Amino acid sequence: MDLEQIISLDKQYFMNTFGERVPVCFTHGKGCTLYDTQGRAYTDFFAGIATCALGYQYPSYTAALHSQIDKLLHTSNVFYVENQGLLAQALVENSFADRVFLANSGTEANEGAVKLARRYWKDHDPRRYKVISLMHSFHGRTLAMVAATAQPKYQAPYTPLPDGFVNVELGSLEALENAIDETTAAVIMEVVQGEGGVTVGDPTYVRGIESICRKHGILLIVDEVQTGMGRTGKLFGYQHYGITPDIMTLAKALGNGIPMGAILARDAVCAFQPGDHGSTFGGNTLACTAGLAVMHALLDEGVLAGVEEKGAYLKEKLLQLQSRHACILEVRGLGLLLGIELDAQHPAKEVMSAALAQGFVVGTAARNTLRLAPPLIISLEAIDALAAALDKILA
Ligand SMILES: Cc1ncc(COP(=O)(O)O)c(C=O)c1O
Repeated sequence: MDLEQIISLDKQYFMNTFGERVPVCFTHGKGCTLYDTQGRAYTDFFAGIATCALGYQYPSYTAALHSQIDKLLHTSNVFYVENQGLLAQALVENSFADRVFLANSGTEANEGAVKLARRYWKDHDPRRYKVISLMHSFHGRTLAMVAATAQPKYQAPYTPLPDGFVNVELGSLEALENAIDETTAAVIMEVVQGEGGVTVGDPTYVRGIESICRKHGILLIVDEVQTGMGRTGKLFGYQHYGITPDIMTLAKALGNGIPMGAILARDAVCAFQPGDHGSTFGGNTLACTAGLAVMHALLDEGVLAGVEEKGAYLKEKLLQLQSRHACILEVRGLGLLLGIELDAQHPAKEVMSAALAQGFVVGTAARNTLRLAPPLIISLEAIDALAAALDKILA
């Protein structure tokens, strides 16, 4: 099919929740390059919204999936799944957590994390059920996660929202502490707010949130759906801050494109009893093969080891651009999750289209921010090329 036909099928048959999509359809990718229906090549600085950490056709990942597809995809959680235990072990051995539950998306992992927090308090203090989240956060699209996602534009179409969520001002420890009472179960936060504008949590603030949780004996849920799996230069974003969550959620790059999510928790918090939670697809054989292959590439094949240096290189290039272009208000981010906030005369969406026309896929986020989240295997040469293209575009 040509692009026109693809677009017209979408317009006729697909629910229009994504608005005006970018008029490009990719057919395949290799390394950090994507190819579209017209045979055009693009260097990818978006990775399917921070998901394809290993880029495309990463050899060991692709080989593992091929070999699994030839054997078995899914058996259900009625039976034991070998790769599930192996993936859970790998995640536990490389984090604060003791146990893992596997789900299908970031939203579902967060929903499960909130259920886990409520389930914990059912046994310890049944008055506690409310979860506090921070303004500009993004935690997903189910009704409960829309209530946790503290952004009016996501909430307004669905009011009244489910009870049990309190949204507080971002950056104010006082506002957080004032919101805590005898009904509070947990705080959920992103250490870097991705959708919210690539806003990096200030260390004093993030550690302050942990201290407040400890002081009041409530649980700390860290949503690492976007920041996890090496994106920020460490395997998990919380590791930059020296904090220890009670519960952490993952998705996006965990499967590198195979849909999956995870809830990780300390033993003391693992209150789920048999029958309390479940999933048909969560942690199926194919998804766990993907997750294990991602962990192997990050930790054993050196992908994670390169992220901090590449992130610093990219950030330096962006700061150089900022010194030449007054329209860049701020460059922020951690590792290979970087945002370029532009002034109102330079809409991020327009700069994104211009970059696409130059052969670069970049994203956007709130606060008129251009969002860069390339595959973690991006090369320094590709970073140079993007910086040169942005230089021209912004001029
Ligand atoms: C921090 C965070 N949490 C949750 C989600 C929702 O994940 P999903 O789209 O996989 O449901 C996202 C998606 O962008 C996210 O960035």
